[in-house]
Amino acid sequence: MKIDITLNRIIDDSYSIHIGELPLLEFPGKVAILTNPKVAGLHLQTLLSRLSAKEVYIITIPDGEQYKTLSHIEFILDRMFDHRLNRKSHLIAFGGGVIGDMGGFASSLYNRGIDFIQIPTTLLSQVDASVGGKTGVNNKFGKNLIGAFHQPKAVYIDPAFLSTLPAREFGAGVAEIVKMAVTFNSSFFEWLESHDLREGDNLSVAIRKAVETKARVVEEDEKEQGLRAALNYGHTFGHVIENETKYETYLHGESVAIGMVMANELACATGLMSEEEATRVKNLLARYDLPLDYPIADVEKFYQAFFLDKKSADSAITFILPNGIGGVEITDKIVPEQVKTILLGFTGKIA
Ligand code: NAD
Ligand code: GLY
Repeated sequence: MKIDITLNRIIDDSYSIHIGELPLLEFPGKVAILTNPKVAGLHLQTLLSRLSAKEVYIITIPDGEQYKTLSHIEFILDRMFDHRLNRKSHLIAFGGGVIGDMGGFASSLYNRGIDFIQIPTTLLSQVDASVGGKTGVNNKFGKNLIGAFHQPKAVYIDPAFLSTLPAREFGAGVAEIVKMAVTFNSSFFEWLESHDLREGDNLSVAIRKAVETKARVVEEDEKEQGLRAALNYGHTFGHVIENETKYETYLHGESVAIGMVMANELACATGLMSEEEATRVKNLLARYDLPLDYPIADVEKFYQAFFLDKKSADSAITFILPNGIGGVEITDKIVPEQVKTILLGFTGKIA
């Protein structure tokens, strides 16, 4: 006997990304704002002054990647229950990528899913994390390994929030901008080479270009069946670095910067990228004081950690390698020896 369930439905999860001054936001129901003490201290009053809702609750979690855990998701859900949120309520994720990923995940779980809004306040979350609906947390096996695709109802990107961002966090965001340019847009990369993002309105232009790039990729491949994996350029290596250093040494964007340097070396070794192009990427990252090197203590352990990457299959590791500047190759055909030779170059054991 066979009983079929037909679920061929069309779901419209479309939404808008607003770039510019945060407008007045009006909600007919309850709203919970998820944030952390740092962002709340700096910018919560601004958000509250532009918010109109039936009831507004603030949920605060500690600041830091180390709190991006399932136990803190449970804490958030408990507060949502305390405040009797319902399916008509909204959760606003107000902070950097950690808050965005956790707010999105908690709202995907609460009552099997309620609406959420992204109001990103770091450069990294404005150009990348707030767009595209990837939500989740880390565990002891690695980064972002538990989560859900849950698209926000809207994203509000106000570059004014970045006025309080420390320089290191700014650089981390630039790393993700460089990632978009190297993988998808050579003219954007050239523009980045000739414009300092700390001057004039260059930053707003770069945010728009990066978000446009990401939006087009997400439209084409929301659930990362193919093209979207390209946005993980630098991340295959970077996630291992973050996990090995317990999220304490490098910011996410900084480990992505090192990861891009590693991926570029592999791309050079496989003939996809020229040394000159790899040097141009390094020079651009260096301009924003991003780290470019990492001392790998144990090449075999580092290599084995790739298998926990979500893109990898049972016996093959998927690498995202730049194909020159402005192109990308997603491949699981790199032989282990070639990868390990590149990794050895980061131990100081070979030149
Ligand atoms: P973060 O959220 O930890 O924020 C960095 C620091 O900046 C924190 O201390 C935060 O409190 C502080 N901060 C936030 N806004 C500020 C402001 N306006 N002024 C001063 N300080 C401010 O880190 P992040 O770099 O924003 O995001 C990294 C996270 O994003 C990682 O967990 C990563 O996995 C995730 N991520 C997700 C996606 C996605 O598609 N979902 C994409 C990229 C990264
Ligand atoms: N940051 C990678 C992605 O959103 O797919």
